[in-house]
Amino acid sequence: MILIIDFGSQYNQLIARRVREQHVYCQIEPPDIELPKIKSLSPEGIILSGGPASIYEKNSPKVDLQIFNLNIPILGICYGMQHMIHSLGGKIESTSKREYGLAELKILDKKSIFYGINMETPCWMSHGDSTSGLPEDFKITASTENTKIAAVENVKKKFYGLQFHPEVAHTPEGKKMLSNFLFRVCGCKKTWTMKSFIRKVTEEIKDEVGEKNIILGLSGGVDSSVAALLLNRAIGKQLTCVFVDNGLLRKGEGERVKSLFKRHLRINLRFINARKRFLEPLRGIVDPERKRRIIGRTFIRVFEHEALNIKGVDFLAQGTLYPDLIESRSAFGGPSAVIKSHHNVGGLPKKMRLKLIEPLKHLFKDEVRLLGKELGLPDDIISRHPFPGPGLAVRIIGEVTARRLSILRQADYILITEIKKSSHYKRLWQAFAILLPLKSVGIMGDKRTYEHIVVIRAVNSLDAMTADWARLPHTLLVRVSNRIINEVRGVNRVVYDISSKPPSTIEWE
Ligand code: XMP
Repeated sequence: MILIIDFGSQYNQLIARRVREQHVYCQIEPPDIELPKIKSLSPEGIILSGGPASIYEKNSPKVDLQIFNLNIPILGICYGMQHMIHSLGGKIESTSKREYGLAELKILDKKSIFYGINMETPCWMSHGDSTSGLPEDFKITASTENTKIAAVENVKKKFYGLQFHPEVAHTPEGKKMLSNFLFRVCGCKKTWTMKSFIRKVTEEIKDEVGEKNIILGLSGGVDSSVAALLLNRAIGKQLTCVFVDNGLLRKGEGERVKSLFKRHLRINLRFINARKRFLEPLRGIVDPERKRRIIGRTFIRVFEHEALNIKGVDFLAQGTLYPDLIESRSAFGGPSAVIKSHHNVGGLPKKMRLKLIEPLKHLFKDEVRLLGKELGLPDDIISRHPFPGPGLAVRIIGEVTARRLSILRQADYILITEIKKSSHYKRLWQAFAILLPLKSVGIMGDKRTYEHIVVIRAVNSLDAMTADWARLPHTLLVRVSNRIINEVRGVNRVVYDISSKPPSTIEWE
């Protein structure tokens, strides 16, 4: 495995992705990781990431300097390189000039990190400080016009430094450089595959759980479905999945989950019809945050009640992913940690005194999809658009009622059916309908109508942090609008949302 020390760069998860893409397992750990833990992980190599600090800042993050005596190859990137150079007796200069953007890298030595790469290649720079003096036994291996010391190495110790970012797409040969570090320098083997992951994790789960029982809140989305399949493979009947139908789901969702998990996959599934328990407290509520709180609280109550009815439950499983784990414990955790706090069932484990089990906590989203495929999850679940925990309640602006839910459900179903038919579904990050608390005048046949307005939202995005409204073909929009107005009673107008995030959000509430 490769250990990545997280100095807070926005690109850290990309480094991990690049390493895993090459079938080498890696883990991101904070700089205060203790030496015994590093030793126990026995990494084949260590990558010191970039970060926003300057090493001359008072509280700039530092790793235990003993890592330079472990006889393990080290690659420092940007701040990581400066930290290494400075710690080993070199000199870093604080400059007021930042270098940001593309630069042409001139390679001076192609033996290790730059093996098989052209002598001149673009690289992505983003730094304030620069290296001005090298520690003993280091030499320069590449330069750019503005940065003489753009790459360094100490072959004897297998220490390497890159001032630029090899992990980003703007450094086209970066992947090759990282691969040279992994395979030529560290001697890693390509052992990280979903098959090996399944073997390892099912063993770990069996060891940890023993004869005890686990419950899992199944939402029908990708993460909890994959977690269910993985746990089912490890401990079968000791797993009970609980699906709460809160009445805020899309058309056919409850049936779909029941038929797949219960009938097809033969997983223990408790299906709870809690529609009334959610709808009642939502009566008269229009404030989005209050809606979210009511739904979150009710979910915990319903789930807890159900769990108490199952004998000998000691564990609660959740489909937490690696990015959530890193963000929630990062010393430099940006707003992402806070943005996600409303996501679903945070309060459960503490309240229920159950041990938490998170079998996907070391995986990225695309790895979860690969894992799902390997475990036989149908493609339509693997490629599903995200759906918020509070469901259609945050897509009905104003009060949530049974009638309004029914209108939105039908409109949404038509939209998704048409988008799937047009083969745009997989290219979009998300598409859905929203119901406004407004009515407008229309004419149908010879009659005046005064009815609801449905909004269509479709966005492209890589990670939901930013999003652009999708330029769907007009022919598709025409079909969707005609069908919704003709088939959904109570709607006489359809509009298309052409706002991007930021400043708008993807969901309307
Ligand atoms: P926004 O609206 O903040 O949404 O641009 C970003 C992404 O997060 C999803 N989302 C949620 N997911 N529980 C969830 O599981 C929630 O409460 C929630 N709110 C928003 C949203 O669908 C989009 O993909």
